[in-house]
Amino acid sequence: MIKKYEKPVMLKIETGMMNKFGSSPYYTRKVRTEIDGVKIDDLVNEHGSPLFVFSESTLRQRYKQLYNVFSTRYPNIAFGWSYKTNYLPAICNILHQEGAIAEVVSEMEYDKARLAGIPGDKIIFNGPYKSISALEKAVSEGALVNIDHFDEIYDLEKVAKNLDRKIKVGMRLNMDTGIYPQWTRFGFNLESGQAMDAVKRIVNGGKLILNGLHCHVGTFILDPNAYALEVEKMTGLMYDLESKFNIKLEYLDIGGGFPSKSKLKGTYQSPDTLIPSIDEYAEAISTALYRNLKGGHMPQVYLETGRGIIDEAGFLITSIVTSKRLPDGRKAYVADAGINLLYTAFWYKYTIETDRELQGTNEPSMINGPLCMNIDVIEEGTLLPPMEKGVRLILSPVGAYNVTQWMQFIEYRPAVVLIGPNKTVDLIREREDLSDIIRREKVPERLKIKA
Ligand SMILES: Cc1ncc(COP(=O)(O)O)c(C=O)c1O
Repeated sequence: MIKKYEKPVMLKIETGMMNKFGSSPYYTRKVRTEIDGVKIDDLVNEHGSPLFVFSESTLRQRYKQLYNVFSTRYPNIAFGWSYKTNYLPAICNILHQEGAIAEVVSEMEYDKARLAGIPGDKIIFNGPYKSISALEKAVSEGALVNIDHFDEIYDLEKVAKNLDRKIKVGMRLNMDTGIYPQWTRFGFNLESGQAMDAVKRIVNGGKLILNGLHCHVGTFILDPNAYALEVEKMTGLMYDLESKFNIKLEYLDIGGGFPSKSKLKGTYQSPDTLIPSIDEYAEAISTALYRNLKGGHMPQVYLETGRGIIDEAGFLITSIVTSKRLPDGRKAYVADAGINLLYTAFWYKYTIETDRELQGTNEPSMINGPLCMNIDVIEEGTLLPPMEKGVRLILSPVGAYNVTQWMQFIEYRPAVVLIGPNKTVDLIREREDLSDIIRREKVPERLKIKA
């Protein structure tokens, strides 16, 4: 049979038509003109762009919410503020005012907490590296030191000898709670028997008194049941130690890891659907505690939540510097903030809001930062309306890890402000200038350029 010739036709692909909810992504815009009642314009005019902005009311509300859902279920609970998540003193002090003690993972963080006025016995000292002098200082000041590895046992025994007394220590565990990859490089592994070996070493050494167990299974943990398993295993070991060695533990520190409401790259569902509520975590943890603790026994339980408390309280305002059309058709914008300020851009797809209504149809766009480096991408591809130079973007949530992991690479780090009660705006970290960069640099006399 002879096939009849059909003239080819070109049909325009109509994407972005109404979806099943009756809206089109091509016409969806998120506009934000203020944060906590303070105009974006005023913030930038006063403090420049880019600018980190923290909402004190969001931070306090979130802390209170977490504390309430846990303490109403299990009263003997306390939060240790995870300094590494955000150690700006103003932020830490808000959380300390709310009742959190400090959780630090280095001597620098320990010193910061002490400088803020936190007494040693209100500091949990974790982390894989603690110098012997840091250990001696922390132990003398009564800190809760959680041992990470065997060498730290030997170091702490030396400290005990120097101080001529027995010292109380906690011990970090790692274990299988169904979260993979497992964070096995921190602490002593439970299932392999390494944790028990460490306990035997501590007991036989005769200089340390084990008084707590610690574990942090990872970050952005989406399964509340992982915590239930963690609690079950920790309480199991606790009672095992009691019967074998007559060790009476004072605390169980179950670490941090609750997710924030941010969208992880590669996830399809929205954070509202994907991320369990904080009540689900509290329910899983408290139920596991009551199921596994002996009647009437209520040891101190610590949580070291970081991201889940602070992330949504932080915004970054950044301005569009220019745009160009890429050969693949995408619009590529350059903004004045990049991965130098947004370490979490490697995992997060931020909510992007603009400071004004914009005309034109949304189109696939990428947003790059100011660094002269190809990896400086803060959004690989999303639908955005055409934006002129000067349009400001408000990115969120950015409160966790960015203002500690930001890097000083070719740019000054921007100001950080805190919006407090009654729309007060306080500068909590000044924008850097050249003096910050060169302060510790030295040029040998022979290398100085003579005029
Ligand atoms: C020991 C320890 N505690 C607490 C945290 C805080 O974790 P998150 O921000 O996921 O709550 C971390 C972060 O990795 C950690 O290593």
